[in-house]
Amino acid sequence: MNKVIVSLLLTLGITGLAHAAGNAEAGQGKVAVCGACHNPDGNSAAPNFPKLAGQGERYLLKQLKDIKDGNRTVLEMTGLLDNLTEQDLQDIAAYFSKQKMSVGAADPKLVARGAELFRGGKLPEGMPACIGCHSPNGAGLAAAGFPKLGGQHAQYIGKQLTDFREGNRTNDGDSMIMRSIAAKLSNKDIEAVSSYIQGLH
Ligand code: HEC
Ligand code: HEC
Repeated sequence: MNKVIVSLLLTLGITGLAHAAGNAEAGQGKVAVCGACHNPDGNSAAPNFPKLAGQGERYLLKQLKDIKDGNRTVLEMTGLLDNLTEQDLQDIAAYFSKQKMSVGAADPKLVARGAELFRGGKLPEGMPACIGCHSPNGAGLAAAGFPKLGGQHAQYIGKQLTDFREGNRTNDGDSMIMRSIAAKLSNKDIEAVSSYIQGLH
């Protein structure tokens, strides 16, 4: 590829698009150990284990690399990715991205506040709306690596937002997108927006 185009892609951070995609069929044969927590089809039953089914391929691959390299700490997965190659991670990301995420339900008492935050942000405090990147139905933007949120377990979402706010999850890049957004969310805001997200589809 032309050098100028390569450096442009690097600058934009969209090199992922230039790579060959993983092989979902091969990935299916590599996820046996993951199923115990995430369920074989990626729709985990426990609310603290994230659903992976239907999540964007690019986002999944980034998380797998971050977890493997220690840029994101997941104690439950310690050592699990050590022997997996780049190709394995690509195949696994392809497999889970092709499954269908199951839907959840929101707590009716929290819907109004959750929707307000998700759709409108907190403009006076300079916090953008979530829909700008995660889309109005929570589908995310797979090609850009913006994760799908709709249908995800509220408990897991709440923990991520708290971790971003408290600096316990720091793999959102140099722009610190999610850390600066979470800094504007109170515990009550997190509870409401997480519940809203669980019911979104
Ligand atoms: C013992 C349970 C357990 C096993 C086994 C496990 N995971 Fe996880 N995984 C977790 C937990 C818990 C989290 C979320 C941690 C947190 O709260 O940040 C997670 C997070 C993830 C994430 C990030 C999801 C997101 O939305 O950001 C990916 C991707 C992932 N796991 C893939 C895998 C794969 C692939 C395997 C098998 C090779 C695997 N996991 C095995 C418990 C497990
Ligand atoms: C400017 C774009 C942008 C906006 C606005 C935004 N996000 Fe994000 N969000 C991201 C990106 C990019 C990531 C992935 C970070 C990474 O690679 O780890 C992310 C990750 C997340 C995650 C982790 C998902 C998972 O599976 O672990 C949650 C939860 C989340 N965002 C919730 C929100 C909520 C709630 C709002 C609104 C209050 C919001 N985001 C607004 C870009 C954005």
